[in-house]
Amino acid sequence: MRIFNLSMECYPVAKVGGLADVVGALPKYLNKIEGIEASVIMPWYNKPFVQEHGFEVVFDGWIHQSQHTYQVQVMKERSRTLGFDLYLVKIPGLMDRDNPYGYSDESQQFLAFQHGVLHWLTAMQIRPDVLHCHDYHTGLVPFMVENCPEFSFLKGVKTIGTIHNGEYQGQMKWEMAAYFPWFDGSRRGLLEWDGYINPLASMIKCCHAFNTVSGGYLDELFHSFRGLESLVRQEGAKAYGIINGIDTEVWNPETDPFLEFNFSKKDAQKGKYLNKKELCEDYGLNPELPLFSFIGRFAGEKGADLLPEIIWKSIQQTYGALNIIILGSGDKNIENSLRELNHTYSNLAIDLGYKEYLSHKIYASSDFLLMPSRVEPCGLNQMYAMRYGTVPIVRYIGGLRDTVEDISTGGSGINFGAAVADDAVHAIHRALSIYHNKDLMMNLVQSNMKFNFSWEKSAENYVSLYRN
Ligand code: ADP
Ligand code: GLC
Repeated sequence: MRIFNLSMECYPVAKVGGLADVVGALPKYLNKIEGIEASVIMPWYNKPFVQEHGFEVVFDGWIHQSQHTYQVQVMKERSRTLGFDLYLVKIPGLMDRDNPYGYSDESQQFLAFQHGVLHWLTAMQIRPDVLHCHDYHTGLVPFMVENCPEFSFLKGVKTIGTIHNGEYQGQMKWEMAAYFPWFDGSRRGLLEWDGYINPLASMIKCCHAFNTVSGGYLDELFHSFRGLESLVRQEGAKAYGIINGIDTEVWNPETDPFLEFNFSKKDAQKGKYLNKKELCEDYGLNPELPLFSFIGRFAGEKGADLLPEIIWKSIQQTYGALNIIILGSGDKNIENSLRELNHTYSNLAIDLGYKEYLSHKIYASSDFLLMPSRVEPCGLNQMYAMRYGTVPIVRYIGGLRDTVEDISTGGSGINFGAAVADDAVHAIHRALSIYHNKDLMMNLVQSNMKFNFSWEKSAENYVSLYRN
């Protein structure tokens, strides 16, 4: 069974968030299952991975978008270093840039990518069994396969849509229809939601099945989905929840090349302390205090706007008996508030950037990882934290609800209810009382490191979905 994953991101080629981690791992694990041949198709970016690896051009053609003509080149990585075939689609002028997102013509970019991929497959008569589309950026593929005569060779190919984040739907005005490959206008209802072309809504309408990245998040979408609640209810019969895994080869404290001191369950206490000491020295923090961390995008979904209040309240209420380290970037108001707090509190360290190596060091060094998310379709940070012996403190929502049970019922972390600073601070007080009970803390560290969040089981669930 041939599965093509279509995505804007894939670790380690180009990563903005968890989508990259999933697309970089799932096909690798799928390929370990007999009878499955999974690959990834993504845009070409000006990134180190692309410069440092060998590619061969496997297709060179043209597509027409409105009155423009664009070259489409497909390049295949020669040595299959990632455990799956990787194809990069280069469209000079649109898909040949530094980063996946942030350009004013992104609707046109994503349309060109989807058009380019289907044009290539049609021209080369490549008919996969499943086109697996990730998020709204590739959400128009199920519509195009069935309704654009140009791709009639692909008609009937099964399409699966995975919703990693329903907050982003890619709405565009109807004028953009001129940029689509030709389609029968009587089918426009399949593109529309609320007066706009809505790629995520279209994906849900047109795909054979769709899934979210946790069961908890799927339940929430039936009631809260930025206007698509009734659609998801209508199409609920083909909706599934499949929890993400983590790549336990990349995220392994015993072998992680980003760590100065590797450690296993057996020597976790010492290993974590040595990493913490090094990190605290780098940031001028006292390594003898418990270390709380936050890693992520500064966006409302992540509850990052709550961080300043959480920080000052928890430092003041505990008289400075804890350290906090924050790694992230995004909303400029949040960045500025954190910068200001950093001048006031010596217990706080902030690093405003995207640093893959530092995230690994923080997971390994922290005692607790804080996730005050408002929306969390799955969340990978809590699973990385646990694998590195760090206790997650999470809001009880979406994928966090499915992966972190509260310690009061025998679970692995701390849950809190509302996305308000006081609830998070209360959870921090609970964390401190666990921290000061040395035996309890050590048991928690070790049992968290034993958790199996590997992709094997979830990959099997995807295979069942493909087979259905
Ligand atoms: P999302 O995809 O919504 O951002 P996830 O929890 O699924 O959230 O995944 C986030 C991924 O991005 C994790 O691998 C996390 O370690 C990483 N990450 C987020 N922010 C940063 C940062 N500033 N530096 C390094 N890694 C980061
Ligand atoms: C999205 C979600 C996150 C999820 C990730 C990977 O970015 O916000 O919760 O873990 O996708 O599926």
